[in-house]
Amino acid sequence: MSAGNIPKHVAVIMDGNGRWARKRGLPRVLGHRKGVRVLEKTVENADAAGVKYLSVYAFSTENWKRSEMEVAGLMILFERYIKKKVGPLKARHGRIRFAGRRDRLPDSLINTIEEAEESTKNEPGIQLIICVDYGGRQEIADAVKKIIASGTAPEAVTEETLSAHMYLPDVPEPDLIIRTSGEERLSNFWLWTAAYSELFFTDALWPDFGREEFEAALASYAGRQRRKGGRIEEQ
Ligand code: FPP
Repeated sequence: MSAGNIPKHVAVIMDGNGRWARKRGLPRVLGHRKGVRVLEKTVENADAAGVKYLSVYAFSTENWKRSEMEVAGLMILFERYIKKKVGPLKARHGRIRFAGRRDRLPDSLINTIEEAEESTKNEPGIQLIICVDYGGRQEIADAVKKIIASGTAPEAVTEETLSAHMYLPDVPEPDLIIRTSGEERLSNFWLWTAAYSELFFTDALWPDFGREEFEAALASYAGRQRRKGGRIEEQ
């Protein structure tokens, strides 16, 4: 595969942990734990393939509706994962960032997030972006609030103004969005920046998503012609 056909930003909707656990008669949290290990491998695979940004949808603004036990279990998993992975990611010059609301997360998770962002902020390698308490509509609403608060005149607001006020304005739009588990929806992920993203759906449940599936997604992307509403884009 030529380096020119590698998507710069791959975004992943990691779906199917619960079904993976249910099929085995296990509690849902064990599906999430297996999902964490798959994420670890996916970061390595993405980095090895030359992907520069890997964003993952870990917890949506709607996920608070899940049972208290599952939500608490996920928050603990996120914190443990970040603490464990920040060192190895930094060792490969990777940077870790977060997108989403922070005001509803447990204090200890916010501290862990802030420390991880701070300690890797100058790393030039792959950026792992974890979307926690993230919602695309919320991101757009937050951008509008920031624009109004800045006193910008309504007639001065353009698409670029909106783009500049998203959570991570310096991150390029996702080239490829992968969703596992056979579901074919965006579910409020990256709504503003996903306008021209290529979509790849696989039946594999997230805990079964391995190197082969990742490579299949990259191969599918490499074979596509991106028009973005205009002429065919050189890959
Ligand atoms: C979807 O499975 C998965 C999530 C709700 C996200 C949690 C993701 C992980 C734990 C992977 C690792 C992430 C990090 C940041 C450490 P589901 O529960 O929606 O599955 P179902 O649709 O089969 O019930």
